[in-house]
Amino acid sequence: MPLVNTKKMFEDAYKGKYAVGAFNVDILTQCQAALEAAEECNSPIILSFSAGSREFFHPGNIKEILEIAAKDIHIPWAIHLDHGASFEICKSCIDEGFTSVMIDASSYDFEDNVRITKSVVDYAHKHGVTVEGELGPCSKRDDPRFKKFTDPEMVKEFVERTGVDSLAVSMGTKHGLAKFEEGEEPELQFDLIAEVEKMLPGFPLVLHGSSSIPDEYLHIFNDNGGELKGTKGVPEELLKRVARTAVCKINIGTDFRVAFVGGLRMSLNEKKDKFEPRNFLVPARQLSKQLVKEKLLNVFQSANKIAKM
Ligand code: 13P
Repeated sequence: MPLVNTKKMFEDAYKGKYAVGAFNVDILTQCQAALEAAEECNSPIILSFSAGSREFFHPGNIKEILEIAAKDIHIPWAIHLDHGASFEICKSCIDEGFTSVMIDASSYDFEDNVRITKSVVDYAHKHGVTVEGELGPCSKRDDPRFKKFTDPEMVKEFVERTGVDSLAVSMGTKHGLAKFEEGEEPELQFDLIAEVEKMLPGFPLVLHGSSSIPDEYLHIFNDNGGELKGTKGVPEELLKRVARTAVCKINIGTDFRVAFVGGLRMSLNEKKDKFEPRNFLVPARQLSKQLVKEKLLNVFQSANKIAKM
């Protein structure tokens, strides 16, 4: 049952050269799928709520509900706010028991991002909660590469001034179904990661927009009436490589949703004379759990890396 913050999770992942999976959830059934998958793989896991999914799930009582749901879970798990847009939303989540929050002030200029992020860090650390910041492609250098990706020198300054526990940086991915242009070769900025590793040894980075949109799940979705088109995800080979670097948290939203809704679509198609919700939710839970297990075992390499608590 250990609901934890991400500090030790990331220290262990950094040393052990694997990444912790963070899966975006909307409903309890998805949380159960992810927690069971992690328990079976003996991997740590992060359940990630956007402000919208928190609002939908049950604001105020998420921790209590999940602690009951996780009473037989022995691996370390965290409840995380994804892309918190203000100090206020981060504070609400901290006050109601989230163990990790992301403050995303990356749309502000550097100085405001530092100020807002630091205010969240100061509050969160008083409550034992870890903080992820985000630093987009602001640049001190003339090198055009740093106009598109985060400048590692700015990472050092940002981390030192804010005290964040981990940082999301732009290293080549984006959220959603189409991460690369037609004909574009998918790549990630491994030199950027290596530069940060040199400047800030032991500091954990976070990769957002990391879904691969595997064919198996896309087919289930589309063969059952779905219409997801123009998809281009991050190849698993790149994610496997990145999991062995300073990137200690890999975020999966799209793949987890596609698998869950694919399972719903398939069962709705197959069981036209049924109307009990569990006839549809059980296959959705199974398919999304299978996806999480595949990621933990084969991509993030986090399976069997922790001692059970
Ligand atoms: P994907 O939707 O690409 O998996 O990204 C999720 C994410 O980064 C959430 O912050």
